[in-house]
Amino acid sequence: MPRYHGQHGYGPVIRIFHWLTAILIGAAALRGVTMIALPATTDAEVARIFSAFSLHKTLGIAALAVILLHMIARLVTRDPGPLHPERRAEVFLARTTQLVMWGGMILLPLSGWLRHASAPGFAPILWPFGQSLPGVPADERLSLIFQTVHLYAGWTLAAAVALHIIGAARHAVLDQDATLARITTGAGPYAPPAGFPMVPLGIAALLWMAVLAYGLRQAPEPIPDPFVDFQGGAELQTAPEPDLSAASPAGQDAEVPLDTDQETIDMPRPPSD
Ligand code: HEM
Ligand code: HEM
Repeated sequence: MPRYHGQHGYGPVIRIFHWLTAILIGAAALRGVTMIALPATTDAEVARIFSAFSLHKTLGIAALAVILLHMIARLVTRDPGPLHPERRAEVFLARTTQLVMWGGMILLPLSGWLRHASAPGFAPILWPFGQSLPGVPADERLSLIFQTVHLYAGWTLAAAVALHIIGAARHAVLDQDATLARITTGAGPYAPPAGFPMVPLGIAALLWMAVLAYGLRQAPEPIPDPFVDFQGGAELQTAPEPDLSAASPAGQDAEVPLDTDQETIDMPRPPSD
């Protein structure tokens, strides 16, 4: 029987996208976990953190671009069916895991991008296009929500990828079947495509809704800036009246518009001295 995509292994386009996706997500994740632990005590270290954040964001955007192309390719081609359709629970778990990964592949870079676009101060994405996103205002509360979703999306995707790799390793070591070969060389026995995985899709969608809701709930409130509150008059209502008899030009300071440009930055602040 002739070998063609959809019945034997995965086709070359999907295979290339699969490994490119894995490499870019892996690189972005590695930079992500290491960049947040970098020290920030000297100007040089702070500059290094900025570069690390920029690199992380750029890798993440590159991953998102590849993932979108991967998704289009995936929608217009048919994947090979399960090698062991009789192992129903295993097939179900593998398909649910794949769909959970698809959710994370989209939501993780997207939440990072939204976090970036809604943070007024940031390390830029290294590209010639703008840094903001249409319809996404610079807003600290919003930014913190996206930051939290980014974090939980990262953990969820990491868990799914771990299961995925354990499954692949199990097939390679215990079953010694063609599962890994189908996504590496494209070789594999005839395996007709299975039906649409409606229930796994529903489970993956529910899981992601729960992650988004949890992220929304857990997002920290922006730290109130007492200086802004003071200007807004909140402090004035409770604080004792200042002695205006000794008012000098400095006594009018509260009326003077002060520079409240408060930067929300997505990285540790530079040392203050
Ligand atoms: C698939 C791609 C991506 C992966 C695997 C990834 C992974 C991570 C990880 C592991 C962290 C550290 C944990 C955390 O504090 O959340 C992180 C943080 C961060 N990521 Fe991503 N990320 C991706 C895409 C992006 C993109 C596209 C952007 C922005 C354009 C972005 C912006 C950020 C920012 C700003 C932080 C720091 C969060 C904070 O302020 O604490 N990420 N990311
Ligand atoms: C971030 C890392 C990874 C992601 C997001 C990912 C995602 C996916 C997805 C979505 C599929 C379904 C095919 C497709 O739609 O392209 C797939 C298939 C596959 N992946 Fe991965 N993968 C990753 C890493 C790996 C690694 C490291 C291995 C091997 C150790 C691996 C082994 C496989 C195998 C064997 C298949 C075919 C499964 C089958 O035939 O049912 N993947 N992967």
